[in-house]
Amino acid sequence: RFDENTVIVVFGASGDLAKKKTFPALFGLYREGRLAGSTKIIGFARSDLSDQGLRERITPFLSYDKTKQAHVKALEEFLALCSYHRSAYDKPDGFEALEKKVDELDAASGVAQSHRLYYLALPPSVFTVVATNLKKYCYPGSKGHARLIVEKPFGHDLDSSRQLQRDLAPLWSEDELFRIDHYLGKEMVKNLIPVRFSNTCLGSSWNNRYIDSIQITFKETFGTEGRGGYFDSIGIIRDVMQNHLLQVLTLLLMDKPKDFGSESIRDEKVKLLKAIEPIDVHDILVGQYSRSADGSKPAYLDDDTVTPNSRAITFAAIALKVHNDTWDGVPVILKAGKALDESKVEIRIQFKPVHTGIYENSARNELVIRIQPDEAMYLKMNIKVPGVANQVSISELDLTYKDRYSSEFYIPQAYESLIKDCLEDDHSNFVRDDELDVSWKLFTPLLQYLEGPNGPQPALYPYGSRGPDGLADFVKKHGYVYEPRD
Ligand code: BG6
Repeated sequence: RFDENTVIVVFGASGDLAKKKTFPALFGLYREGRLAGSTKIIGFARSDLSDQGLRERITPFLSYDKTKQAHVKALEEFLALCSYHRSAYDKPDGFEALEKKVDELDAASGVAQSHRLYYLALPPSVFTVVATNLKKYCYPGSKGHARLIVEKPFGHDLDSSRQLQRDLAPLWSEDELFRIDHYLGKEMVKNLIPVRFSNTCLGSSWNNRYIDSIQITFKETFGTEGRGGYFDSIGIIRDVMQNHLLQVLTLLLMDKPKDFGSESIRDEKVKLLKAIEPIDVHDILVGQYSRSADGSKPAYLDDDTVTPNSRAITFAAIALKVHNDTWDGVPVILKAGKALDESKVEIRIQFKPVHTGIYENSARNELVIRIQPDEAMYLKMNIKVPGVANQVSISELDLTYKDRYSSEFYIPQAYESLIKDCLEDDHSNFVRDDELDVSWKLFTPLLQYLEGPNGPQPALYPYGSRGPDGLADFVKKHGYVYEPRD
């Protein structure tokens, strides 16, 4: 653990990720008393900024309640912990100067050797050079620990991901690396292991004898405006499926780990990933958004930074098959799209109907786990219609967090939770190298097909709609039964 006397260096400090996620997360931890006062934070980037310039840049993104004295004080103290270091990423002298700066900070606070947490909020093109320079010039030796946090994309496909592993592995051991997938820091995703394995009523029915189909859905109301150029070579599958949704899937379907250890959990995740069958190109539906019905929102192709006639995919639905005793025969549909009618991420587990006897074929039970917005879990159940009637109708056992838990339960932002894990040296919620490898093995052939000369033209769907026209049929074909309420 290195919660005391740690220097956190945020690389890419002047960029969007650092400004919108990393610094706000660090501040959230500080505000909630989860970051020691002895911590020092150094922003590292190429831009010409002063310490004060960095503070001014990040302050609008730090959330606090102006009416609370403790928050205002925390903000002042936090900003005082932050300083800025300007350097190119490929120049050794910039790293030597960083090391000198850390030594000075250590000397000023009477610390022999601080621990280091290096956060790479950087594009992948500079991962390796920064990791190399850090190891060479800023590695604390035996007296302190050093950890490196990296953010996706971890490669573009299996080959490039392996290349990145090969570049990093000789420098930073797996124990020293934290690969962030921020979905693993979301409250409801962290809840999957506890809910599944501490409730016998779920455990016993969590298999293909009782479950008919599973859907994991990611929807966003906004398109790629402003980042079309970046998105064009990425597409929705690399952006959120190969990582975020697949992580959710593994936690949802893996076997019980033998203990809480991070290796035990990740061993089970890898086992599950390996049981997923290669994706059949007939089991997919891909789309790209066109202009909104009223013409007010642009088509994906209207973005000047996008390649003309780009076939980039902004929507995908994929039916996966997990080939093991527990899940054989249960389709798992992953759906993800930009520029849709609502913003929502949820898991939907549909149980089998009552097959025989009384209540035969009454509506199916469905367990819905809403990851965002508004964390919730609800179970659709058949209940006798209250009063004189004798028939059943579907209703919900509803656990909506904001109704159930008062604000005294502080739910941290995903990045807060994950940085806290790093400070505690807990790897459970981070992606291991073999996990990454299997996930790319699964998606690379599909991406090659989609992006190759025989790849399909994505179906157009209007900005703000539910997705491509064929979606309802796709979901139905893969086992989900839509049951309207009475
Ligand atoms: C990122 C993707 O990883 O996740 C974005 O690159 C996406 O395209 C984002 O919008 C979604 O994260 P969240 O936490 O807002 O659901």
